[in-house]
Amino acid sequence: MAYIQWSSRFELGIPFIDADHKVLVDLLNRMNDASRSDGDLADIGETLSALVDYTHYHFAREERAQFAAHYPDIREHRVQHAALANQAKDLFETFRKNSSHVEVGDILDFLSDWLMDHILLHDMAIKPYLLANLEAVSAAEGVSYAALLAANSKDATFDWSRLSILIVEDSKPFANVLKAILTNIGVGTVTVALTFEEGLEKLGSLSCDLIFTDWRLGENDGLDFVHQARMRGIVAPVVMLTGYLDESLEAAREGLVISEWLQKPVTSAELMACIARQMVP
Ligand SMILES: [Fe+2]
Ligand SMILES: [Fe+2]
Repeated sequence: MAYIQWSSRFELGIPFIDADHKVLVDLLNRMNDASRSDGDLADIGETLSALVDYTHYHFAREERAQFAAHYPDIREHRVQHAALANQAKDLFETFRKNSSHVEVGDILDFLSDWLMDHILLHDMAIKPYLLANLEAVSAAEGVSYAALLAANSKDATFDWSRLSILIVEDSKPFANVLKAILTNIGVGTVTVALTFEEGLEKLGSLSCDLIFTDWRLGENDGLDFVHQARMRGIVAPVVMLTGYLDESLEAAREGLVISEWLQKPVTSAELMACIARQMVP
């Protein structure tokens, strides 16, 4: 049973806003699932990070629509958005610094109460203004997640849709969140392999530009996977995801070339920056 069951009472009747709100509810549900299972804390951090990123994106789109529709209470609405975005970001930073000191249930309750209250009371108030101004809705629909994250960076014009990325990760919640982030960024093809063996199978059946692999893959580890990939002639850069960056020393001893190490949990902005470093000429 989902922590928050989506219902028609959340719907504004503006497709892009309803779709964004569904993504946010889905992320809250995923965070709840991750906190209830004995999953890796990184799964919770990753979902929290995605929630922070997607909230930022959603608020930008919604504010664009409000501005274009001359919504009279836009200033107060923006203050609410800024407060929620800052609190969510603070929670994520605190979690990232010391996850064992954070009560995940409290974070979840706080964010879900805040967000649901905001949608039901404050977002509903903009509904008549947007329904009366569909041009404003179109303007907001055009806001790109990738462009928003990449603003002010050299990769703002990079064509993410041509990329094919393979994720080899044995934690399903983490793999799903990573896939959702990469898809939201605009990556054209995102393939997930949940086991070492499945990862090797995918290497043989698809061509990929970049590989993300977890340091730990059940009985095997990410280094074995890189060994196997290189033995099969796969030259795509590999980004190793790990909870402990010290593990890079072990890889160095093994003489393997890992293009980059990323410490979990990662944010969308960090993922984009990493992909850009590997892919943008
Ligand atoms: Fe909203
Ligand atoms: Fe809002």
